[in-house]
Amino acid sequence: MELRQAIAQRYAAKHFDGRPIPEEKVLELLEQIRWAPSGLNIQPWRVKVVSAEALKRELSVATYDEPQIMSCSHLLVFCADTDFRRLSERLMTRMEAEGVPPEVRAIVGSIAADMGNMPSEAWAAYAVANTYLPAFLAQLVAKDLGFDSCMMSHFKSDEYARILGLPGHLVPAILCPLGYADDVPLPKWRYSVQELLIP
Ligand SMILES: Cc1cc2nc3c(=O)[nH]c(=O)nc-3n(C[C@H](O)[C@H](O)[C@H](O)COP(=O)(O)O)c2cc1C
Repeated sequence: MELRQAIAQRYAAKHFDGRPIPEEKVLELLEQIRWAPSGLNIQPWRVKVVSAEALKRELSVATYDEPQIMSCSHLLVFCADTDFRRLSERLMTRMEAEGVPPEVRAIVGSIAADMGNMPSEAWAAYAVANTYLPAFLAQLVAKDLGFDSCMMSHFKSDEYARILGLPGHLVPAILCPLGYADDVPLPKWRYSVQELLIP
């Protein structure tokens, strides 16, 4: 599928038909979304993949019983990693192992040192903003692989963290249920380019 087709056909599915997506397709999607960009390439995210009915039932309650959770095949819970110190140490170590040239590592290291002075709430907000990138990529890749999705921020993050037993530094930030849609997409509309642009 052409990128432009995927952009045009992607939509926020409200209900799925319950058919399971083959695991290899889900793995293919995960393989693609790990290429999402992030500030400093720090990749401040982890993803919990949920397909078990009982767990989905618990999470559905924490999602105000929106129908996507129970009807989807797989629910991706994108979590922001808020432990900046550990992430930046990991980044520096990994860049070296990956053969990133020393001059590039030096620049990244100095920006990371600056960012280390950010208040922890500002870092957490930055990490959450970054998690939206692989989540949106998941929507496009899902369309390309022949299934549907929805990005969802209307859920109780604290409850998700408790139900999934997540460590404190992982904050559920955005959901992306995946499945075969069986709803009728709402007509699409957006503001025009003129309205988008600041004159
Ligand atoms: C950040 C974000 C959060 C969203 N949260 C929800 C949600 O909690 N529940 C829901 O049904 N749709 C949610 N949506 C879907 C939007 O309502 C939808 O993308 C928007 O109305 C445009 O429609 P389209 O995606 O079908 O083009 C969310 C979308 C985004 C990008």
